[in-house]
Amino acid sequence: MARDTWFETVAIAQQRAKKRLPKSVYSSLISASEKGVTVTDNVESFAELGFAPHVVGASAKRDMATTVMGQNISLPVIISPTGVQAVDPDGEVAVARAAAARGTAMGLSSFASKPIEEVCAVNDKIFFQIYWLGGKEAILERAQRAKEAGAVGLITTTDWSFSHGRDWGSPKIPEQMNLKTMLKMSPEVLTKPRWLWEFGKQLSPPDLRVPNQGRRGEPGPTFFQAYGEWMGTPPPTWEDIAWLRERWDGPFMVKGIVRVDDAKAAVDAGVSAISVSNHGGNNLDGTPAAIRCLPAVAEAVGDQIEVLLDGGIRRGSDVVKAVALGARAVMIGRAYLWGLAAEGQTGVENVLDILRGGIDSALMGLGKSSIHDLTPDDILVPDGFTRTLGG
Ligand SMILES: Cc1cc2nc3c(=O)[nH]c(=O)nc-3n(C[C@H](O)[C@H](O)[C@H](O)COP(=O)(O)O)c2cc1C
Repeated sequence: MARDTWFETVAIAQQRAKKRLPKSVYSSLISASEKGVTVTDNVESFAELGFAPHVVGASAKRDMATTVMGQNISLPVIISPTGVQAVDPDGEVAVARAAAARGTAMGLSSFASKPIEEVCAVNDKIFFQIYWLGGKEAILERAQRAKEAGAVGLITTTDWSFSHGRDWGSPKIPEQMNLKTMLKMSPEVLTKPRWLWEFGKQLSPPDLRVPNQGRRGEPGPTFFQAYGEWMGTPPPTWEDIAWLRERWDGPFMVKGIVRVDDAKAAVDAGVSAISVSNHGGNNLDGTPAAIRCLPAVAEAVGDQIEVLLDGGIRRGSDVVKAVALGARAVMIGRAYLWGLAAEGQTGVENVLDILRGGIDSALMGLGKSSIHDLTPDDILVPDGFTRTLGG
């Protein structure tokens, strides 16, 4: 990668994203709900965890390959599904390419801006994420479309409670991005010529439709049409989750578990994986950081299903902390969105490289030759750090 575009930390990618994007677009990436207590805790809690490094006897080679939901991945990091990748004209296709180039899997949001067929064409490790939206038949139809496109796993995200207020204000997202709305946004957009140019080159403004909520080959509803339908859909029961799981022939994840009793219910519903996650602080503000909830959940169900950690990962050392505390792998959200906004596909590759480098350094420092040798003893966990919810 060219030295002038390369960035050395995720924090720098975030600064670049902020500089490059129109204010409202950047603020849609920050997201989070209410006061932002949970999103802050997701990130800050990692700094409370410490290491006790060895300084002699490190292994010359460190292994970080593993599998998630049946897919070989070259590092214990996969892409979490996010719904606003129209920050880059290639959006989810760019992210999928970057993930493939770095040997990892990607969750594709049902609120993605690109059709699943285009995304599966560039990465054969795509897990399709669905929300419980519309009737059961419509949900099944979307899952079937994903399967036909080549998706190798299903992620069901249920941790959403329609809390919309943010103390720092929500971005104004237009119903549709056409010339009229571009002109309306022009004062802020015109101060970001590089961002505008990327879209200008392709003669297409960012698409605010969600094609995977419709039928294959159709443009799909607008984001707000789909969101409205979601608000009007009764939330699922565990029986509903088991119903969908039975009909999906392949690995199945429930994303957004923080409680031990929910983790056990997910096992009973027959899932293959869960992610310990609070939707990146976008759900119920005041939910503890995902990493605080991980040890109890991993202890309860980690020998029956795959347990992933999702939320607050900004460094390779965060990944190592999560794996040592019981995660098979982690999922990342904002980190790659900032990379995407900053430098497109190469920015996402850059973020994955930063994480790989950080995992490698942490393993070396701890004197470990593999992520599979990490244990809770490698981490200094202060008293009172963990939270056992519903245990
Ligand atoms: C802008 C944005 C959009 C998101 N959209 C979705 C989505 O469509 N589906 C979903 O399951 N999770 C969604 N999430 C949550 C992420 O998948 C993930 O759980 C979260 O970002 C992890 O926290 P992190 O950003 O600190 O890594 C979104 C998160 C952000 C920041």
